[in-house]
Amino acid sequence: MATTIEHQTRTASVDLERLKSKQREVWGAGDFAVVARHTVFPGELLCEAADVRAGKRVLDVATGSGNAALSAARRGAIVTGVDYVPELLDWGRKRAAAEQVAVDFEEADCEALPLANGSYDIVLSMFGAMFAPDQRRAADELVRVCCQNGRIALANWTPDGFWGRVFALQSKYIPPAAGLTPPTAWGKEDHLLRLLGGRVRVERCRLRYADFSYTSAEDWLEFFATYFGPILKAFERLDDHMRRAFAAELKDLTEQFNSATDGGLVVHAEYLEVVLTKL
Ligand SMILES: C[S@@+](CC[C@H](N)C(=O)[O-])C[C@H]1O[C@@H](n2cnc3c(N)ncnc32)[C@H](O)[C@@H]1O
Repeated sequence: MATTIEHQTRTASVDLERLKSKQREVWGAGDFAVVARHTVFPGELLCEAADVRAGKRVLDVATGSGNAALSAARRGAIVTGVDYVPELLDWGRKRAAAEQVAVDFEEADCEALPLANGSYDIVLSMFGAMFAPDQRRAADELVRVCCQNGRIALANWTPDGFWGRVFALQSKYIPPAAGLTPPTAWGKEDHLLRLLGGRVRVERCRLRYADFSYTSAEDWLEFFATYFGPILKAFERLDDHMRRAFAAELKDLTEQFNSATDGGLVVHAEYLEVVLTKL
């Protein structure tokens, strides 16, 4: 029987497993490992904020090609990275080998982690768990695998920041299943506390920015339409007319966020960095 999301909205009744398998195809399209070059720095900041140290057991949930996992491994932690796209995990393994650090990359769904209760000192998820369609289950899993007094550290795009606006625009062209809470709700502290509430204490919560630098909005769009599964797949699904309209609106949005004053394009993409202690 299909899982439903009655706990998120009374009216929603979505086949979440079907949706998730479509989303998995989306994340496997293009090559997210190339896109992830832009967010190496937030992984370093997240590990610093979570005080990742040598010998700590660290899990990076929805690790992709391993940005936050590798940052933790560089600090000498004992690291596992999980994701449901095997090709991205292969990139993570190659990166770990090149840096001569050890990371155990495993295929897993972040809504059903094949990991024991309380088995990690620090659980990270950078722009990752926020994309699970069953937000409550994903949040429950982060808490479950973290040990008591351990830390959960998250980086989530905010709804009003650049990526929140890109995803909102995408939803205008490819409407998501009715009743789903947008992933960028994880970029709001009150929503996170509703999901995790009562089981965690907030240690730190702040807005940060990841920079995306290109020569122009066209250059940005060409890159993301080639490598970023969500945009690539949206373009594939639209007819010519709608594709042109979506492309034009994406370029406009990118220009609106452009902070470069001397030519080129620099977008400061806002995200919420949160460090929590499991009670
Ligand atoms: C925006 S990427 C971020 C990847 C990585 N954390 C980083 O910061 O580079 C989102 C990642 O979440 C993964 N993901 C989304 N839903 C997932 C799920 N239900 N289980 C496991 N991984 C998932 C995707 O495969 C993708 O690698």
